[in-house]
Amino acid sequence: MALTLVCGGGFGDEGKGKVSAYLALKDEPLIAARTGSVNAGHTVVLQGRRYKLRLIPAAFVNRSTILVIPPGGLVRLDVFEREVSELGVESRVHVDPMAGIIEDKHREAEMKDDVLRSIGSTAQGVGAAMADRVMRRLRLARDEPSLSKYIADTVEMMNNALDNEEKVLIEGSQGLYLSLYHGTYPYVTSRDTSAAAMLSEAGLGPRRADDIIVVFKAYLTRVGEGPLPGEISIEESMRRGFYEEATVTGRARRTAPFNMELARRAVQINTATQVAVTKLDALFPEARGKTEWNMLPWDARRWVNRLEEELNTPITLLGTGEEADLMVDMRRDKLGP
Ligand code: IMP
Ligand code: MG
Repeated sequence: MALTLVCGGGFGDEGKGKVSAYLALKDEPLIAARTGSVNAGHTVVLQGRRYKLRLIPAAFVNRSTILVIPPGGLVRLDVFEREVSELGVESRVHVDPMAGIIEDKHREAEMKDDVLRSIGSTAQGVGAAMADRVMRRLRLARDEPSLSKYIADTVEMMNNALDNEEKVLIEGSQGLYLSLYHGTYPYVTSRDTSAAAMLSEAGLGPRRADDIIVVFKAYLTRVGEGPLPGEISIEESMRRGFYEEATVTGRARRTAPFNMELARRAVQINTATQVAVTKLDALFPEARGKTEWNMLPWDARRWVNRLEEELNTPITLLGTGEEADLMVDMRRDKLGP
């Protein structure tokens, strides 16, 4: 790990928050940046406490990590202030002067927009703010007096850290199939969610990326409208242990079994160097809480081995429970020290 990217391989909610929190505790990055904005909720569970993060990187769990909102990020001031004070991270969070500001008018515009309503938008104002940015009329963080104490050239910070062989972690938001370019348009979000776009949002060149970890959940979920191959009913999803509710909107998530075709394409477009699979314990309840490969039930191991073969990419991390440290970490075995 020098520069590590954590990106979503599905329709969001793959468990990027958990994976990022785990990596932050384990690898101790000097800096972590979160791309995307407040429409995405990342959940981290640590020592029984559940954090729902909408702006601050999940890597906040490591108290020595500097936290960054990069140029491509969009800040809503009330959400930012609340998270900063609730998490107590005021002294180590930085906002790039080029990050955008979401205003009330953006949310209001989205709430009464028929197209956005029909695709099941979270109506958090992210798309309307992006549209203003494209039209060169969005207020930026540099124009916002209340942010002045947080403003820093985060691009310089991250590039310098990498030049000094420090570790940097970039957390993605949403998943490849909600990408404005690669997703199920028009049922997508207002940004590209691929690894390449994450680098661009952060101001890091493509050749900087060392580890690109694509995160899959052991099954698919989707909130809002749009195609979901193999979708099952809510009753079936409860029976299988797939049932979830959305972090930001509280809506029931639609569910489907794991889809190999989608996964292969996500590995390809993101140029994954590693794959993480979360919620393995939903498919294989006996995997719950295990942190070693040899302790996993044989059917879980067989499933993972087959997936690894199909994706032709090392599966290095397996989530076996909600807590950030419930992870089978095979990076050493599969990639070397
Ligand atoms: P918007 O980006 O809020 O306009 O929402 C567009 C579509 O993307 C809707 O189907 C949302 O439910 C979905 N979406 C946006 N952010 C997330 C996320 O973080 N997780 C899951 N779905 C999301
Ligand atoms: Mg989420």
